[in-house]
Amino acid sequence: MELGLGGKTALVTGGSEGIGRGIALGLAREGVDVAICARRAGPLEEAAAAIARETNRKIVPIPADLTNDADAKNFVEQGHRALGRVDIMVNNAGSAPGGVIEHLSEADWEQSLQLKFMGYVRCLRYVLPIMVQQGGGRVVNLIGNDGVKPSYWEIAPGAANAAGQNLTRSLAGQYGRHNISFCAVNPGPVRTERWAGLVAAMSRDMKLPYEEADKLAPSSIPLGRIAEVEEVANLVVMLASPLMHMVNGTMIEVDGGQEKSLMDRLRDR
Ligand SMILES: NC(=O)c1ccc[n+]([C@@H]2O[C@H](COP(=O)([O-])OP(=O)(O)OC[C@H]3O[C@@H](n4cnc5c(N)ncnc54)[C@H](OP(=O)(O)O)[C@@H]3O)[C@@H](O)[C@H]2O)c1
Repeated sequence: MELGLGGKTALVTGGSEGIGRGIALGLAREGVDVAICARRAGPLEEAAAAIARETNRKIVPIPADLTNDADAKNFVEQGHRALGRVDIMVNNAGSAPGGVIEHLSEADWEQSLQLKFMGYVRCLRYVLPIMVQQGGGRVVNLIGNDGVKPSYWEIAPGAANAAGQNLTRSLAGQYGRHNISFCAVNPGPVRTERWAGLVAAMSRDMKLPYEEADKLAPSSIPLGRIAEVEEVANLVVMLASPLMHMVNGTMIEVDGGQEKSLMDRLRDR
C-alpha cells in the first residue's frame, strides 16, 4: 500500500534513541522530512546523520529538554522553520518511574507528569496553532498500555498515560473542525534501553533474581514476547499516513494482548 507520506514533514520528540528513533527512521523511509529532539546533542546529531544517510531525507536535530516550556517552544518553532510546515507531530519522549506506591516519592510523581504528560501538552500548545493556520495536521501520541490496563506496579506511568489518553481524545473532539486528527498508540513492553531498568525495578520490588523478573513480563503477554521497536514504529508510520486521517480520537494497543491482571497475580505469588 502506498501510504502517501512522500513530501510530508514531521516533528518527533525523543528521536535520538529507542522507539522515537525507530519512528523517525520509519517516516524518513516513507519520504518524510523530520525534525527530532532530545536533551543530549551528541546522540541526537548522530541519529539525525545516520537516518539522513540511510534515507536521503532532511533530518533536523534540535536539542531540547521538554520538561522546559521554552525548549518545547523552540523545538516546534525551529522545526517548523527548517521544514516549512508541520504535517505530523509525534509526541514520544516520555518516561515515568515504575514501582509500587510505597517506593514512589513526591519527586517521582512530579517527574512522571512533567515529561510524559506536560511534555506532550507543551509541544501541542505550540504546534496546534501552526496546524490550524496551514489547514490541518495529524498528531500521534505515544502513550502506553498502563493507562488502559492498570497495574499497581506501574501506578505512576499508568496515571501519566491515562492523562495523555484523555488529552488525545479531548483534543480530537475540539480540533476536528480544523482538519486536525489525533490518535494514541499504547505500547506494552518494548525492547529498548529502558527495558533493563524496568526489569531491575521489578526484581527489587518483588525480591526476585533479575533473570526471573526478566521472564515475568513476557509471561503476561499471550504472544509470549515483548515488542520490537520496529513493530511500534510501523504502526505509528501507518497511523501518520493521510490514509488514516479518519482514525480520530482512537487508541490502539500494540502489546501482544498483554494481560496486566495476570502480571499482578504473578507478582502476588
Ligand atoms: N519502551 C517501552 O517498553 C515502552 C512501553 C510503553 C510505552 N512506552 C512509551 O513510548 C515512548 C518511547 O519510549 P522509549 O522507551 O523509546 O523512550 P525513552 O527511553 O523514554 O526516551 C528515549 C528518547 O527520549 C529522549 N528524552 C528523554 N527525556 C527527554 C526530555 N526531558 N526532553 C526531550 N527528550 C527526552 C531521549 O534522549 P535524551 O536522553 O538525550 O534526552 C531519547 O531520545 C515513551 O513515551 C514511553 O513512555 C515505552
